[in-house]
Amino acid sequence: MSRSCSKVLVTGGAGFIGSHVVDRLLSDGFEVVAIDNLCAGRLENLAHCQNREDFRFIQGDVRDFGLVKRVVRDVDVVFHEAALVSVNRSVEDPALTNEVNVTGTLNLLKACLGSGVRRFIYGSSSSVYGEAETLPKHEGLMPQPISPYAVSKLAAESYVKVFYKVYGLDTVCLRYFNVYGSRQAYGPYSGVITIFMNRLLSDQPPVIYGDGEQTRDFVDVRDVVDASMLALTNRGAVGEVFNIGTGVATSINQLAGMLREIAGKIDLKPVYENPRPGDIRHSLADIGKAKKILGYYPKVSLREGLSNLVDWYTKRSL
Ligand code: UD1
Repeated sequence: MSRSCSKVLVTGGAGFIGSHVVDRLLSDGFEVVAIDNLCAGRLENLAHCQNREDFRFIQGDVRDFGLVKRVVRDVDVVFHEAALVSVNRSVEDPALTNEVNVTGTLNLLKACLGSGVRRFIYGSSSSVYGEAETLPKHEGLMPQPISPYAVSKLAAESYVKVFYKVYGLDTVCLRYFNVYGSRQAYGPYSGVITIFMNRLLSDQPPVIYGDGEQTRDFVDVRDVVDASMLALTNRGAVGEVFNIGTGVATSINQLAGMLREIAGKIDLKPVYENPRPGDIRHSLADIGKAKKILGYYPKVSLREGLSNLVDWYTKRSL
């Protein structure tokens, strides 16, 4: 895909993953349009791009079909990162999660038909594997979602695949595992690393739901951005689904220990509370397919990524 003439739309562009994708696209010479309803995304994540001629921000919602249709009209590529990302929140409000994650995706896909969009890259989720017991999780497993959030990601992913098969839209689905890094908004629906980090830095102990022996495959957002760029250019990726993780499992207890150590807060011992409904017990990526087809090799270890994140938070608060 030629860089100089390509215009890319990033939905959720002011959000955590989306804003990092925007940065990389701009530095690689693409023209970028970012759309975000600023529900979880923040303008400060894009403040450094606002005066660029090759960048435009639109405050809007992917549920607004008229808007989406207008925005998609003159772009070549769509990175669809806008979503409600919290399992917990989806348990509280499954309909809202469905509207944003499923209807929002369908809106975009419909808008792409008959437009000049040549590739649609969807930020899916490893949560779709749900109760599938095999570890590590590979793309051939039958998804068994156990939360409304996971159902919404699987439904949206299925639409994406159908738009490839039935309508010939070139699509790629990336099943992100537990992505962490700078810029994730802090609140009750944030990822565990953002929550632990914010609590530790304000001298509060981490709260662990359940026994803390549940495991996750934590992947640095910079590796996720690399995977996204590979999905953009790789011909063999079209119509496919890829796991994007690291292949390393870490328990929540281990994570809390590592973070307390790196942040210099070893005295803040975790507090244990009841497990959360809809929580997966173990999640670990088999990244063999992404390595083979995309040439994706994650570079950032969890310890390194967490150290970088502590530095980022420290600089931000100075
Ligand atoms: C996360 C992402 C989801 C993504 C999925 C991919 C968020 C909010 N969720 O879901 O979008 O699709 O990974 O695998 O980014 N926990 C605690 N204490 C806390 C917070 C969480 O013990 O304060 C535990 C949870 O109970 C869970 C684990 O940490 O067992 C991870 O939770 P969370 O970061 O919310 O992520 P997932 O539910 O795995």
